[in-house]
Amino acid sequence: MKFFIDTANLAQIKEANDLGILDGVTTNPSLMAKEGIKGKEAILQHYKTICELVDGDISAEVVSTDFEGMVAEGKVLAAIHPNIVVKVPMIKEGIKAIKWFTDNGIRTNCTLIFSAGQAILAAKAGAAYVSPFIGRIDDSGWEGTELIAQLSNIFSIQGFKTEILAASIRNPNHIIKCAELGAHVCTCPLDSILGLLKHPLTDIGLAKFLEDAKKTA
Ligand code: G3P
Repeated sequence: MKFFIDTANLAQIKEANDLGILDGVTTNPSLMAKEGIKGKEAILQHYKTICELVDGDISAEVVSTDFEGMVAEGKVLAAIHPNIVVKVPMIKEGIKAIKWFTDNGIRTNCTLIFSAGQAILAAKAGAAYVSPFIGRIDDSGWEGTELIAQLSNIFSIQGFKTEILAASIRNPNHIIKCAELGAHVCTCPLDSILGLLKHPLTDIGLAKFLEDAKKTA
């Protein structure tokens, strides 16, 4: 399973990248706004900076909701760097845009996926990635990881090339479940990635080793 970080925060991207386990970055308009990035030029420059920091796929989201607007925006985003993947919302116009991008050699990530039907349509249109939002499904009282299991099964039976990119990750257990259920990629906040490191028995064990090492010094 590939690890992406889900943030537009450069310090966090760098920290995750320095671990040596990072395969890419996903962003969205909310994450860009959180970093105070404002204006078209600043946004394009921020994506460029992220592309220079991380050698992997970088999702950059369009904000138009009509076909022509999405295509125009996506062309500009894709021109920033070969690693840019244009993120397109799961709406009717978005499916048309994904098909256009696919036919024109631009890779896409279909975002805001909450059902298997939506993921199947995006895969048929040629999306490189589909992004099921598992945390938000949990928030609404359903089990987000069940969608990952369902998509893994369908994509494998159908032989879809589209990768399942589990998004809206809220904790380390989400990451473990996504790995178990066959997600191709998990995009995570830094806290959830670092949470995978933690176990109290590791801390206790290390303290003992260090204490005993003093006896052998
Ligand atoms: O990748 C999508 C993600 O940013 C949404 O996460 O926590 O806002 O549901 P969240």
